[in-house]
Amino acid sequence: MTSKLLRGRTLSFLRWPEAIDDHTAWRCEEDGGLLIDGGKIVAVGPYAEVAKRAGAGVETIDHRPHLILPGFIDAHVHFPQMQVIASYGAELLDWLNKYTFPEETKFRNAQHGRRIARLFLDEMLRHGTTTVAAYCSVHKSSAEAFFAESHDRNMLNIAGKVMMDRNAPDGVLDTPQTGYDDSKALIAEWHGKGRQLYAITPRFAITSSPEQMEMAGALCREHPDLHMQTHLSENHAEIVFTQELYPWSRDYTDIYEHYGLLGRKSLFGHCIHLSEREADALSQSGSVAVFCPTSNLFLGSGLFDYQRYRRREKPLRIAAATDVGGGTNYSMLRTLDEGYKVIALNGEKLNPFQSFWQLTRGNAEALSVADKVGTLDEGTDADIVVLDAHATPAMRLRMETVETLAEELFLLQTLGDDRAVREVYVAGRPAKSAIAA
Ligand code: GUN
Ligand code: ZN
Repeated sequence: MTSKLLRGRTLSFLRWPEAIDDHTAWRCEEDGGLLIDGGKIVAVGPYAEVAKRAGAGVETIDHRPHLILPGFIDAHVHFPQMQVIASYGAELLDWLNKYTFPEETKFRNAQHGRRIARLFLDEMLRHGTTTVAAYCSVHKSSAEAFFAESHDRNMLNIAGKVMMDRNAPDGVLDTPQTGYDDSKALIAEWHGKGRQLYAITPRFAITSSPEQMEMAGALCREHPDLHMQTHLSENHAEIVFTQELYPWSRDYTDIYEHYGLLGRKSLFGHCIHLSEREADALSQSGSVAVFCPTSNLFLGSGLFDYQRYRRREKPLRIAAATDVGGGTNYSMLRTLDEGYKVIALNGEKLNPFQSFWQLTRGNAEALSVADKVGTLDEGTDADIVVLDAHATPAMRLRMETVETLAEELFLLQTLGDDRAVREVYVAGRPAKSAIAA
C-alpha cells in the first residue's frame, strides 16, 4: 500500500505574512491529518476528517505533538564544498583561491564526486531540507554524480555544472565550447528526468570570459524554461575586479543583463551591494536575489538588506540559502537565525511566520516550483519535515514558557538544528530515519 496518513500539527503558508497576527496567511491544524498517496499529498485538514476520507486500514504515523511542515528549501549551496566549510581567515577572493578552487579540483575524480554527492544529500535530508538549488564543480561527472544520487532518492533538486574558463587553476577550468557542450549533454540527460531540474550555472563574471558568457546566454535562449544561477555583488574586491574585466559595463548586474541572463528563473547569490539601478533591473526582470546570511557573515561580505529589498517601490523577489561551504551550517533553521540577526543589524525584524514562510513557500515561489513543493496543498509532492521544539534540554526548558505558535517557531529557529528534525519525507517516503538506520 502506498498511502499513509500522518497525524500532527500541520502548518503551511498561503502567502507572505504581513505581520505576526496576520492569521489568514497560514493554516495550522492543532490535530491535523495529511494523507499521502503515490508520493503526493491527497488530503490535508483536521485529522478526524482526513482519517474518515482515508478509510480504515490506512497506515497511520502519529507525529503528535510535533509540527508537520513542507520540507525546507535551500536556494543556493555548493555540494563540492563539504570539505571547505570552516576554512579560516579569508575574504571571498582569497577564500576561493586558497581553499575552494583547490578543493573543487578533487572532483576530477568521479568516485570522489559520487561519495560527496551521497554524503551531501544525506546531510541535507538530516537537516530537513528536501530541495536545493546546487552548484556542482566544473566537471561534468560531478553533476552526473549529483543527479544520480538525487534521482535515486526521488528528490526534487535543481543543479548545474559550473561554467568557469579563467581566473582559476587549470584543474577547475573548462572552455567556452566544452562548458557549452557539457551543459547541453547534462540538460539532455537529466533535465526533467524524474524530479531533476537543470540550472545553467556560469559561476560568476570573474571566472567566465566574455566568450563563455555568450555561451551561457545562448544556453538560456535555447532552454528558456531552465533556471540560471550565478553570484552577484557579494564583496567589494569582487566588484572592483569585475569592473576591470568588463570595463564597458554600467555596473556588475549590467554584465549579466548584457548576456541575457536576467529573468524569473535567474537566481543571483548574495546581491549585497546593489545600486538602485541594479535592484531596479533585477526587479523588472523578475530575477531572484538569494540571501545567504551565514556565508555573508563568515566571509565578512556584508549585510543583505532584506526588508528594504522587499519594500522598495520595485521590490525584489528573495530566496534564502545556506551557501555552504562559504556558509557555516547545513540547517535552514540556523540560516534563518543568522538571517534574523543580519536583518536586526539593518534596524528591521523578520517575524517567525515570515521566516518559516521563506524556508518553505517563499523559497518555492522564488525557485518557481511552488506548484510542486513548499506547501501542504493537495496535489503537491509529499516533501515534508517534522519538527520537534523539545529536541534538546535547553529547548525543553524554554518551551515551558512558550504559549503561542509564533513563540514556538521562533524558538525552533533560534535554538533548533538537525536535532529538531524528527523525520523527513521525500515524495511520501521516510528519508531521515532511513539514513540513520
Ligand atoms: N563566488 C564565486 N564562487 C563562489 C563560491 O563558491 N562561494 C561564494 N560564496 N561566492 C562565490
Ligand atoms: Zn555560492
